[in-house]
Amino acid sequence: MADDIVSEIKLRTDLVELIQSYGIQLRRSGRTHKGLCPFHGEKTPSFHVDGERGFYKCYGCGKGGDCFSFLRDKEGLSFPEAGEILARRLGLEWQRKGESPEVRSERQRVQDVTVLAERFFRERLMHAPGVLRYLEERGLSRETIEQFGLGYAPPGYEALLSWFRQQKVSLEDALTADLLIKGEHGLRDRFVDRVMFPIHDLEGRPVAFGGRTLRPDGIPKYLNTAGTPIFEKGRTLYALHLARPAIVEAGFAVAVEGYMDVIALHQAGIANTVASLGTAITEKHVEILRRFRKGDAESELVICYDGDSAGMRAVERAGPMFEEAGCNVRIAVLPEGDDPDTFVKKHGADALRALLNRAQPLLDYELNRLRSRYNLSDPSARLPFIREAARLVARSGSSLVRQEYAGRLTRLLERLANEWFPGDPHQAMQARSALTQEINRLLRNDGAARRGTPATPVSSGAGTGLKSARAHAERYVLRAVLTEYRWAETVASRVSAEHFAEESLRGIAEDLLGHNGSVGDGSQHEDGWEEDGEAQDFWTRVERLKNDPARAEQVSELLMDEAPLSDDGLEACLQKLEHAATVAHLQELRQLYEAGELAPGDPRLDEYLQLRKELGGRQKRED
Ligand code: UTP
Ligand code: MN
Repeated sequence: MADDIVSEIKLRTDLVELIQSYGIQLRRSGRTHKGLCPFHGEKTPSFHVDGERGFYKCYGCGKGGDCFSFLRDKEGLSFPEAGEILARRLGLEWQRKGESPEVRSERQRVQDVTVLAERFFRERLMHAPGVLRYLEERGLSRETIEQFGLGYAPPGYEALLSWFRQQKVSLEDALTADLLIKGEHGLRDRFVDRVMFPIHDLEGRPVAFGGRTLRPDGIPKYLNTAGTPIFEKGRTLYALHLARPAIVEAGFAVAVEGYMDVIALHQAGIANTVASLGTAITEKHVEILRRFRKGDAESELVICYDGDSAGMRAVERAGPMFEEAGCNVRIAVLPEGDDPDTFVKKHGADALRALLNRAQPLLDYELNRLRSRYNLSDPSARLPFIREAARLVARSGSSLVRQEYAGRLTRLLERLANEWFPGDPHQAMQARSALTQEINRLLRNDGAARRGTPATPVSSGAGTGLKSARAHAERYVLRAVLTEYRWAETVASRVSAEHFAEESLRGIAEDLLGHNGSVGDGSQHEDGWEEDGEAQDFWTRVERLKNDPARAEQVSELLMDEAPLSDDGLEACLQKLEHAATVAHLQELRQLYEAGELAPGDPRLDEYLQLRKELGGRQKRED
């Protein structure tokens, strides 16, 4: 980035005017201007703007800076985004880092043609009374239709095409913008007889469209712009440009599934609502939303999806990602059969607000759902439930969170045990302590397994004491796996192939355990631990392994070793492997830490400090 454009922007931007354009009233006071601070609530002005020098400062809350930081703090814009806006205001060209002039002008051309198309669709809607009636029947006011720039792509396959021709628009650019397609009969419109929902970038420029069919059987229901030079689905949030100020104000964003949901909520005054575009919420979305958090707080996202939707399942899978990204996710649960659009129509905005306020942390939501899937009055469902619950908790990012939830699980157990054995405190206590032990074991172990691959497997250099102890443990564990299915299950629930440093052993472990800790081929079993036929499959696999020329020798060597095996011996060896993985993970974190990559607030920093504390003493003794 050329620094001269930055200094030119700073030099030429009229900061007073810029700030006033955000509706902030400033009064001249001597050489500078003064007003109510836009960054904190106050009744007497302590926000000072020095237009000549191009900086502002609030003596109330301490915020200060120049035109770039103003856009960052007020609008949540990144430096280049602020640069683009500021440059455009001054009629300058802002070149994105690493962007060649050709790409820049292609982006520009695609942008221009998209803006034209949006205008065209909007205009066509005004001449399509039937479509307007449809939107009005769905409860959208004229203002809302206007605000969201809704439009209509007429039937006939050539409406936009002929208009583009008339306007002498480059059809090549229109193709790149995914507004036209090349079919058997040449060029035609991509969107035909559809209600058009323009999708905007952060600055409110249309960059793509979702087109909804008006026919009840139309397929697909929504046709969306595919990727173009100015549009990447996975990092765009519908209506974010409108929701932005409301997100900052509310301190959280609401994510819903559909375009219509977003629009209905905005119209109902819940304007901090956005939607991802028919895809799951990605890391990129979270990264964008992070910018709108207040100060150093975690960013917060309330998800209001249909409980059974693919989107909701994706959210559950993404739990660790959210945590990693410092995004606090809560789930608002709608009554069965409602989506946010229908709910707000039936019950009103206040009811929905209340529902959003009651939203529960993701992990609680998952635990509740898990509980509803098991019939806990059936004793045989209890252990599987506890195991699944412990797994959920163990999967969660920081050890602090794990500890807190382990505590909650234990308390839950206490209640449940009393329900299960009413009037028999002795039995209740026994059940409770068995399950508590199980929880602790799973938390310890899944935590270690989750921390995953040893970064530096000890596979070279024979014969140090440590190495041979570890190799011994690895052999022992595999021998147990090959000997008894019960042991195979135990092992699979605690370690995976990655725990094996010895290469040939790791190969065998891979075949027997897979990478994710289920006995078998590594395919995931969503719920049950005890699947019928699983043991059968397992022994078939062992047979296959014995006949695999690449493995046969090592396998039979392991099987011929007749040194006794025991539960206790296995436990000791498993702990060794888990410990080694944890140490390796600690090393990884230490490297990051020493490279200065673990900023305060990074959950990995907590994890590192915690692990260091936990392992510090033990490690010294062992190395
Ligand atoms: P919905 O079917 O819930 O749509 O899909 P909706 O927005 O609520 O629309 P109405 O109320 O039926 O009119 C949710 C979202 O999934 C994406 C769109 O982003 C849609 O808003 N989607 C859905 C597609 O991209 N393609 C489809 O075919 C269907
Ligand atoms: Mn809907």
